[in-house]
Amino acid sequence: MSTVELAARPQWQALQRHAAQIGHRHLREFFADDPKRGERFSAEAAGLYLDYAKQRVDAETIGLLDALAQACGLPQRIAAMFRGDAINTSEDRPALHVALRAPRGEKILVRGHDVVPDVHAVLDRMAAFSEGVRGGERRGHTGKRLRNVISIGIGGSDLGPVMAYEALRAYSDRDMTFRFVSNVDGTDFSEATRDLDAAETLFIICSKTFTTLETLTNAHAARRWCLAALGDEQAVASHFVAVSTNADEVAKFGIAAENMFGFWDWVGGRYSMDSAIGLSTMLAIGTARFEEMLAGFHAMDEHFRSTPLARNLPALMGLLAVWNSNFLGATTVAVLPYEQYLKRFPAYLQQLTMESNGKHVTREGAPVGYSTGPIYWGEPGTNGQHSFYQLLHQGTRLVPCDFIGFAQTLNPVPVHGEGGGDQHDLLLANLIAQGEALAFGKTAAQVRAEGVAEALVPHRTFEGNRPSTTILARRLTPYALGTLVALYEHSVFVQGVIWDIDSFDQWGVELGKQLAKATIAELTAAEPPALHHDGSTNELIRRYRALRDDATTAATTSNRP
Ligand code: F6P
Repeated sequence: MSTVELAARPQWQALQRHAAQIGHRHLREFFADDPKRGERFSAEAAGLYLDYAKQRVDAETIGLLDALAQACGLPQRIAAMFRGDAINTSEDRPALHVALRAPRGEKILVRGHDVVPDVHAVLDRMAAFSEGVRGGERRGHTGKRLRNVISIGIGGSDLGPVMAYEALRAYSDRDMTFRFVSNVDGTDFSEATRDLDAAETLFIICSKTFTTLETLTNAHAARRWCLAALGDEQAVASHFVAVSTNADEVAKFGIAAENMFGFWDWVGGRYSMDSAIGLSTMLAIGTARFEEMLAGFHAMDEHFRSTPLARNLPALMGLLAVWNSNFLGATTVAVLPYEQYLKRFPAYLQQLTMESNGKHVTREGAPVGYSTGPIYWGEPGTNGQHSFYQLLHQGTRLVPCDFIGFAQTLNPVPVHGEGGGDQHDLLLANLIAQGEALAFGKTAAQVRAEGVAEALVPHRTFEGNRPSTTILARRLTPYALGTLVALYEHSVFVQGVIWDIDSFDQWGVELGKQLAKATIAELTAAEPPALHHDGSTNELIRRYRALRDDATTAATTSNRP
């Protein structure tokens, strides 16, 4: 299907006409027309409650989006993904992260081979290793217990593990220290290791390809740091493990096969936090809880696979994202978890959503004639309320919001004095109030009725009609985290199906990497090299070399000339 065909589809055009009719209707009217809207425009699965009543849609919108999804072959594409078809067409491979959480005994064939036993064989090895480290049987080179775990990776080999560790910190072994090094900026490595005893430190080198510049550079730094402290090449075997699909490169680095945990080319980096890339998560929370997380993922997979689109949470979220982007003109989505443990969730989602759907051509390579992946960003509530929410409420841009909250806190803290209750009630009151304020706003008449001076009325008026979705669950558990991540994974896929793009490749990251390789040589050459870039790039290289080599500034921390 080409671009022209998507825009030419009667279902797409019907949505355009529909948007022209209802696009400016106010949420106040939608709610006034339908007292049961809250119940009608909500769905529930695997312990997640999805309230999308504050989206600017009516029953006809959902019907038209459903019709578009059918016309774009969404049910068939979902089946193809679960079947292991090569749906990542530009790399000619399946995108089969659902196999990572398939229970033992299920059968999923990739090129005629059942991959489920392979997945469980790796999970079993991870479990034996993790329990050995956690239980103190597997020790460091000098016999000391391995209390510190440093996971080195970047992108999908880092963001998922960091997010999961932070999200599930309440369930982690508090006698152990977990740190994550991703940036090639030496500060990241130095700060992560400066106060640790190498004899107690385990490094997990996570890289699907095992060729990524940042990760390999940091892995070599880790090796030097470890050997400088322990003084024996043999120490590498006790202090380094690798997670990769590239056994040859892992061996070249000096990590033996028994210390490598594998995964497969059909697992995309940003879809890999529940593969061996999650080894740090398993070390932190233990095998049983890791399995609970996988069960959560699987529950959402099954829901996605088997539920009609109109009640299917990932399908609804994906289709609403299309509605907001392509028919209401929104360009971003704010992800606002009212849960401190989810502080890295927006960062994790940025790679998941934007590396997946930031594409400019269809699967066949034709330019798209519509916007694709919106910009995802966000911060935990309530902090964001005192920062960027001003723009959400009164700015000129439409920013659909995803609110995420849990009814039970993992850290009850009673509120002192009047009203009592727990701080968690204050947190959730804010979540609920923000969605209400965004949707309904405050009219000029309401402001005047409060006795506000006429000159201030425009400043204190909120137009409202700003859409949001709220995801509510009982408690942040490993299971709930699995359901939440799978919800977003599949919602990204749904969007990609509608836009007819390959959500599983990432060619857009290559050019910068290639240019950086050439630039490194120019920065490190002993003599100033002849430069053949554009004028700006040449000048930046000259300036950098001059400032770096300037002994007068090197001696001081001051930035003054
Ligand atoms: O540069 C982007 C990317 O390829 C991501 O897609 C990937 O998650 C990340 O780099 C890390 O890659 P690797 O796991 O191979 O080191």
